[in-house]
Amino acid sequence: MTPLLRQVLSQIDGPDPRVNEVVSALVRHLHAFVEEVRPTDEEWIAGLDFLIETGRVCTPHRNEFILVSDMLGLTSAVDEVNNSGPEGMTPSSVEGPFHSPAPAREPGAWISFGPERERGVPTVVHGRVLDCDGTPLAGATLDLWQANDTGLYDSQDDTQEIGNLRGLFTTDAEGRYWFRTIRPSSYPVPTDGTGGTLLRAIGRHPMRPAHLHYRVAAAGYRPLTTHVFLAGDPFLGSDAAYAVKEELICESRPRGDGEWGMDGPYEEIEFDLKLVPLDWKDEG
Ligand code: BEZ
Ligand code: FE
Repeated sequence: MTPLLRQVLSQIDGPDPRVNEVVSALVRHLHAFVEEVRPTDEEWIAGLDFLIETGRVCTPHRNEFILVSDMLGLTSAVDEVNNSGPEGMTPSSVEGPFHSPAPAREPGAWISFGPERERGVPTVVHGRVLDCDGTPLAGATLDLWQANDTGLYDSQDDTQEIGNLRGLFTTDAEGRYWFRTIRPSSYPVPTDGTGGTLLRAIGRHPMRPAHLHYRVAAAGYRPLTTHVFLAGDPFLGSDAAYAVKEELICESRPRGDGEWGMDGPYEEIEFDLKLVPLDWKDEG
């Protein structure tokens, strides 16, 4: 340890032990980074300018720090240390920067409207919310959000009504939910801020594989934020946000039989979600 690092660490002595622990670890890792990288003065200032610019890009509807964290795999790393559970649980994955409150909707409701619905492939999404042992969870809420076929959420796009491609649903007595929407498309994350600057600098594409976002809540269970991804998407192996997990990949099956109140060809996605009880303890 250098005398400078020892001196910095020795002066971390605030009232909250966890803050002291976190700041000490951060300082140790940052000093190790400087030792390894030996940044020039200009490079260090460029790094700080990057952070300043990241803050400048943020608005009440856009959090560029989340995007940068996602693009570095850091959000997924934090998710991994916090969301272990029993076998069979549905894994969580990153929330991303575009969650906002969704309108409550009845079972089977459409969540896509206007040109989005006219342009898209009609799709029925259904499944159950269950305990990890398969017990159905009645009264669970599912908060869903999805981008349109050009990759924009309602909050990013003045041409969409607020609430388009979003919905809040409640499971029935058998834990079932269903809704109608358009088939999700793969799309690029926003590249006009520092998230994009970073991706270009390190030679990564900005694409996310086609997905729907879920936030699921049920009394007595750990809230689950996750995605369902569509099988066959070309970006499953290189998601810009590192959010794909095998258990979250689902087929979207072409159907032409007019069930589910559909009056023409459509696709069907079936996705069950298994929640972890709040009192679950890792015995291993
Ligand atoms: C999203 O899917 O909404 C998203 C996730 C991570 C970064 C950017 C966008
Ligand atoms: Fe998304």
